[in-house]
Amino acid sequence: MESIRPYEADVRRYDASETLYARCGHSGVLLPRLSLGFWHNFGGDDPFERSRAITRYAFDHGITHFDLANNYGPPYGSAEETLGRLMDEDFRPYRDELFIATKAGYDMWPGPYGNWGSRKYLMASLDQSLRRMRLDYVDLFYSHRYDPATPLEETLQALVDIVRSGKTLYIGISRWPLEALKRADEYLRERDVPLLIYQGRLNLLDREPMDEGILDYCHEHGIGFIAFSPLAQGLLTDRYLNGIPTDSRMAKNHFLKEERLTPELMQFLLQLKADAEACGQSMAEYALRWILCQRGVTSVLVGASSTEQLAKNLRCLL
Ligand SMILES: NC(=O)c1ccc[n+]([C@@H]2O[C@H](COP(=O)([O-])OP(=O)(O)OC[C@H]3O[C@@H](n4cnc5c(N)ncnc54)[C@H](OP(=O)(O)O)[C@@H]3O)[C@@H](O)[C@H]2O)c1
Repeated sequence: MESIRPYEADVRRYDASETLYARCGHSGVLLPRLSLGFWHNFGGDDPFERSRAITRYAFDHGITHFDLANNYGPPYGSAEETLGRLMDEDFRPYRDELFIATKAGYDMWPGPYGNWGSRKYLMASLDQSLRRMRLDYVDLFYSHRYDPATPLEETLQALVDIVRSGKTLYIGISRWPLEALKRADEYLRERDVPLLIYQGRLNLLDREPMDEGILDYCHEHGIGFIAFSPLAQGLLTDRYLNGIPTDSRMAKNHFLKEERLTPELMQFLLQLKADAEACGQSMAEYALRWILCQRGVTSVLVGASSTEQLAKNLRCLL
């Protein structure tokens, strides 16, 4: 029987290092300017070999940062399980070349301790995530959302204590409002566990972190910023210019609704296509470059359902 050859990462994966990485705020960490998200396409319902191919392609091209959360799937937890299997089968020798993030903050398990921002939830969730991912530690652990009902100090102190326990090296917050971000920054600085990064939705259709002053705050205070859904889940590509493909996110799940395709949006997309073509770029490339040009942005956090999409998106770094 033919033996399965173990994965060997491309020896040229760091050849483009000078353009590929950016410093994350005032930290010592360099992140790829394009990072890979595991929200969709890595769950238990997705073909494992496709998830493997995308992950390998990413790492072979110097994408060292993978972004997960406890409830990515479906089912919940299964994207982390996919990563765990990939660690065992492909990436264990490369653990120190990878920057792996996970999060807790949204609905994860039933009852009062499986959601939001309590110490109880965050601590238990990270332990579960580590088991699923077959890791001793993550590089980055996030509070996935601001919890107005839990004292901010409780959430933040849990994050500090998790760093001190060695289960994460750095901490981040995602989708926190500006005032809470400021308080978090101060609290964490005073405890010598500076906030590494803020994760927020930023793309040509949704500029909230810019409008709210979050991006500026991060830039001025040495905090990195990573933009999630930079392609608005695929809207800012050619995916929906001629209808809704059956294999697209819009056709497959409720996170991207058909109602988004209004005549106004289609008008915007056609203009985007024309602007991109005038620059010799694809729509995706143009949309990603726009984000990367904003002051304070460390990385764009893309999703991909194929290696071809990832390859196209990587062109934004050329
Ligand atoms: N912190 C948070 O609350 C939060 C929230 C959302 C996401 N995130 C993170 O951000 C990551 C990225 O989010 P996202 O998946 O929404 O990002 P995105 O990059 O805006 O959308 C990815 C989707 O767009 C389509 N696509 C990508 N490249 C394409 C190309 N070149 N041509 C045509 N279509 C293309 C694919 O959809 P098809 O499936 O249709 O092919 C792909 O799955 C997530 O995986 C997660 O890690 C975080």
